[in-house]
Amino acid sequence: MASSSPTPVRFLTGITTSGTPHLGNYVGSVRHSVRFSRQAHVQSFYFLADYHALIKVDEPARIQRSTLEIAATWLACGLDPERVTFYRQSDIAEIPELTWFLTCVTAKGLLNRAHAYKAQMDKSIARGEDPDADVSAGLFMYPVLMGADILMFNAHKVPVGRDQVQHIEMARDMAQRFNHLYGEHFTLPEAEIDDAVATLPGLDGRKMSKSYDNTIPLFTPRAQLQKLIAGIVTDSRAPGEPKETEGSALFQIYQAFADAQETEALRRAFADGIAWGDAKQLLFERIDREIGPLRQAYDTLINDPARIEKILLAGAEKARAISRPFMAELRHAVGLRNLGAARDKAAAPKAAKAARPAFKQYREKDGLYYFKLLDENGSQLLQSLGFASPQEAGRAIGQLRAQRGTALTLLAAQLEPVDNATVRAATDALEALAAAEAAGHKN
Ligand code: TRP
Repeated sequence: MASSSPTPVRFLTGITTSGTPHLGNYVGSVRHSVRFSRQAHVQSFYFLADYHALIKVDEPARIQRSTLEIAATWLACGLDPERVTFYRQSDIAEIPELTWFLTCVTAKGLLNRAHAYKAQMDKSIARGEDPDADVSAGLFMYPVLMGADILMFNAHKVPVGRDQVQHIEMARDMAQRFNHLYGEHFTLPEAEIDDAVATLPGLDGRKMSKSYDNTIPLFTPRAQLQKLIAGIVTDSRAPGEPKETEGSALFQIYQAFADAQETEALRRAFADGIAWGDAKQLLFERIDREIGPLRQAYDTLINDPARIEKILLAGAEKARAISRPFMAELRHAVGLRNLGAARDKAAAPKAAKAARPAFKQYREKDGLYYFKLLDENGSQLLQSLGFASPQEAGRAIGQLRAQRGTALTLLAAQLEPVDNATVRAATDALEALAAAEAAGHKN
């Protein structure tokens, strides 16, 4: 049923801060995500996964530089930090804490099956080394850290590449296990795979990736962009010879930036035997038309790291407004609790009793049963005469508790005589006692 303000769907995605953004990242993720974040009824969380970067990078300067470059890239490409929650993972102190909670509900056997860790082991095995040779405990635990990223903000959807789907499924497992043990705290996340998003070929025709060293940095200076494009591999067909679009990295990259009409025009040019040099010039101009204005924004941002720092800290505050209270809830759920509060609760009736008026029953040497009413300081307000049985004394007390001031008059014959001031004080004490007991029952 349509509703005027549907609950927003929460999207969350992290970018590991281990490299320099390249055209492949732009086409495959940034461009699409920024556009997407502007939709109505979408609440997005974008974060710089710098804890994840520590798993693969041990150069501090590179982590810092990459964090700056990726943050500047997202902002230059139009991510609006007012509209989305844009933060740095390591600013959220609750993430490592949640990671531990999840670690304790994650089967080791589940982590044994993680692709990222198995791929690393396979490499070692292929080299004839110990399978664990290049596996840090961080790499092994990577899916749990990622689970904490996702579950902390109760994301519904996590846009990822196919290689990350297994991690989202693991996060679901963790959420289910935790919810089963401690109550419904986590939303079960789903992977959102966008197959329409292109993977871009790199300079050598393989997928553009920093691991192949075939990338074109997104915001490389204009002259450098032109030079890199000139280096894209082509076949050796001469000018005038028809060119194949199929399998041409140049054509595919062009297509990722051009509209249908422009693409069609280049297809015809290929058939008509355009020289590779001219085709490269067309590609350069087309990319620069889109990237040029963004590059200007990027250059301004990257030269003002303090501004980026400020934006990220503001984003962290926004994120922690969610993570802080949520973590407090989770701590309580698992039993990490304020002991003082527990004591107060258990001891409250006793402590309160000591500080409130009280009846005292006792038997005297004459064999009769008596009672006294004491004020909160233990001073005597009323003194009964002797009763033949404790039940009779108890009944009189019950009447005083129930009827307070009125009972004082009714029971006058069974009490030691009191002056008016004491009647008032005793009445107040009986009222206070009734009120305290009523409040106590509510607790
Ligand atoms: N592991 C992801 C990658 O390498 C990055 C990442 C970290 C992430 N935490 C995340 C992605 C949470 C989505 C959700 O691409």
